[in-house]
Amino acid sequence: MAEKLIDSFGRNIDYVRISVTDRCDFRCTYCMAEKMTFLPRQQIMSLEEIEQIARAFTELGVRRIRLTGGEPLVRRGILDSIANIGRLPNLIELTLTTNGSQLARYGEQLYRAGVSRLNISLDSLNTERFRRITRIGRLEQVLQGIDVANQQGFKQVKINTVVMAGINDDEVLNLLNFIRQRSMDISFIEEMPLGQIDDHERPLTYCSSDEVKSIIEQRYPLQQLWMKTAGPSRYFGMSDSNSRIGFISPHSHNFCASCNRVRVTVGGRLLLCLGHEHGVDLLPVLRLYPGDLEHLKQTIREAIPNKPERHYFDLSEPPTILRFMNATGG
Ligand code: 5AD
Ligand code: SF4
Repeated sequence: MAEKLIDSFGRNIDYVRISVTDRCDFRCTYCMAEKMTFLPRQQIMSLEEIEQIARAFTELGVRRIRLTGGEPLVRRGILDSIANIGRLPNLIELTLTTNGSQLARYGEQLYRAGVSRLNISLDSLNTERFRRITRIGRLEQVLQGIDVANQQGFKQVKINTVVMAGINDDEVLNLLNFIRQRSMDISFIEEMPLGQIDDHERPLTYCSSDEVKSIIEQRYPLQQLWMKTAGPSRYFGMSDSNSRIGFISPHSHNFCASCNRVRVTVGGRLLLCLGHEHGVDLLPVLRLYPGDLEHLKQTIREAIPNKPERHYFDLSEPPTILRFMNATGG
């Protein structure tokens, strides 16, 4: 019998998200503070350590891996590691979260490396506003990246949009048209209180998935799709398009009961839930026993029962999770 990771609530953990860098060529206002300090090199996983951790998880029954960041594609040498991870036996899906800035250059290589799905962040189709939200990003470059991604044979290219009231909630239908024209999917995300940001007051810009859904329904009737996916999105379809619309609603529709995933931070800490600090440091184990996957696997096995039952996000309180999303992995 192949091994499985089952937590104390009976959830089968078969999905891991690994943050391969905390650095990014953008500074999205909901994700980062304007001035960020990044971890020194010796405190982050080497590429080899990332690959070993990925391998250990697949030997424990994990079948899906998502590489995130930060921006994964700004890490030097990451493409070779992606290809190595893509070759792991037992893995049925390797996905990547990216801001799209490097996709024009690397889209084709990513496909050849075995990446099956891409999630590309896109919060505005207006050049100036895109710059304001990302603080640095060039919309044009990301749109070119999306074009290149769409020319490959990925199973899915999905747009992720964090919807914020008064910032980009008036672009819901524009973004929807954008993905419909390209037969892509989209997920609209409620912003989570991770890290102390300085751009906007999260309680004031909160926009619930139900509000986004009602904006869409004024134009397109939605049918719920009961497909089972690896992530937390609830999906809806439109009768005149094969694009799917997902809602990721950490505040308004709790999805913890079906959570099948854990995360590994850029510092090599196994995080059992986005909304808690429960976890265990894998990096010291790996560095104490280099190349020995057994100790690593045992550390992971022993941690899984501590996975919390659910997250509690409260926008009326200052964030209790001080980690920023870039170290954690989206
Ligand atoms: N809340 C919700 N989503 C976030 N992301 C980054 N920070 C946050 C946050 N505070 C999303 C980005 C991207 C992925 C990496 O995570 O939109 O798609
Ligand atoms: Fe970078 Fe993604 Fe965070 Fe934006 S959301 S700053 S693109 S890691």
